[in-house]
Amino acid sequence: MNMPKRVEHQMTDKGYVPVYTTAVVEQPWSSYSETDHSVWARLFERQRALLAGRASSEFLDAMAAMEMSPDRIPKFDELNPILRKATGWELIGVEGLLPELAFFDHLANRRFPVTWWIRKPEQMDYLSEPDLFHDLFGHVPLLMNPVFADYMEAYGRGGVKAHGVGEEALVHLTRLYWYTVEFGLIRQDDGLRIYGSGIVSSKGESIYSLESDAPNRIGFDLERIMRTRYRIDTYQKTYFVIDSFEQLMESTRPDFLPIYDRLSKLDSIPAGDVLDGDKVYNRGTGEGWLEDGDV
Ligand code: PHE
Ligand code: CO
Repeated sequence: MNMPKRVEHQMTDKGYVPVYTTAVVEQPWSSYSETDHSVWARLFERQRALLAGRASSEFLDAMAAMEMSPDRIPKFDELNPILRKATGWELIGVEGLLPELAFFDHLANRRFPVTWWIRKPEQMDYLSEPDLFHDLFGHVPLLMNPVFADYMEAYGRGGVKAHGVGEEALVHLTRLYWYTVEFGLIRQDDGLRIYGSGIVSSKGESIYSLESDAPNRIGFDLERIMRTRYRIDTYQKTYFVIDSFEQLMESTRPDFLPIYDRLSKLDSIPAGDVLDGDKVYNRGTGEGWLEDGDV
C-alpha cells in the first residue's frame, strides 16, 4: 500500500497534527490489498450490527440509500453519482487531514474530502487520525440527508469566514463541529440515538455514548458548545443532544461574528462540567475520567 505523504506537522487546538499534501488524489482503488478489503468488511459488519437501534433513523436510512457494502472498499466513483443526485455533494480523495482553510473551502463547495487509505488490522479499535473507514462510513451517509447536507455546506462557509476573523474564532467554530458532526447525539421518540461520525465509526463509543452512566448528555446550546473544551484521546465526557437536524440548521443560521466577539470575553468550560441552565439528560458519574487533557 502506498503510504500517505505527510508534509509537515502543524500546531492546532488539537495539538500537533500531521498535515498532508492538499492535493486531490484519485482513489488508488486497485492498490488496496486483500487485507485492506477485509479490514473494511470487518469494521463495516461490526458497526452495522451495533448501529441498528443506536444510530439515528436518518443515518440508517442514508446508509441504506448509499448502497455501501461490506464486500469490498467502495469506489468513490460509484458513490458519487448517488450522492450527487441526492444532494449535490461529491467525494474527493485526499491523503489525510487538510489545513483548515482548504478543508472549509471544499465543504463550502459541497466536496467532502475522504482519506483514501484504511487502517491496519491491529488498529481496528483505535486510530489517532481519520482513515477511510472513519471518513466514508462515518461522515458520508448523512450527506445524503438534505438538511444535514445543507448544514455541512453552511459550516464550510462559516469556516472560511471564521478563518478571516482569527485563531480564537476558529477554536470556537471547531468545537461546534466536534460536538455535532463528530460526536453529536439526537433525540428521537424512542430515546437518544447517535449521528456523530466519530461515534458511528467507533465500536466502543457507539455503546459508551448512549449506554454508559459516566458521560454527561446535555441538550444542544450553540454558545455553550462553542465554549466547551473536548477530548481527543478518550471518549467524550459530554455529549450534546439535538432534537432534529432542522434545529441544528436553524440555530446555526445567525451571523456568528457577534457571537465570536462575545465569546472572546468568556472563559472556556472544562469538558466534563455541568452548568446551571443546562438541559440535562444524564449527569455523568465521571467514572474513568482523566483529570487533564481537555483541549
Ligand atoms: N452562521 C454561521 C456564521 O455566520 C455559519 C455556520 C453555519 C457555521 C452552520 C456553522 C454551521 O458564521
Ligand atoms: Co471526522
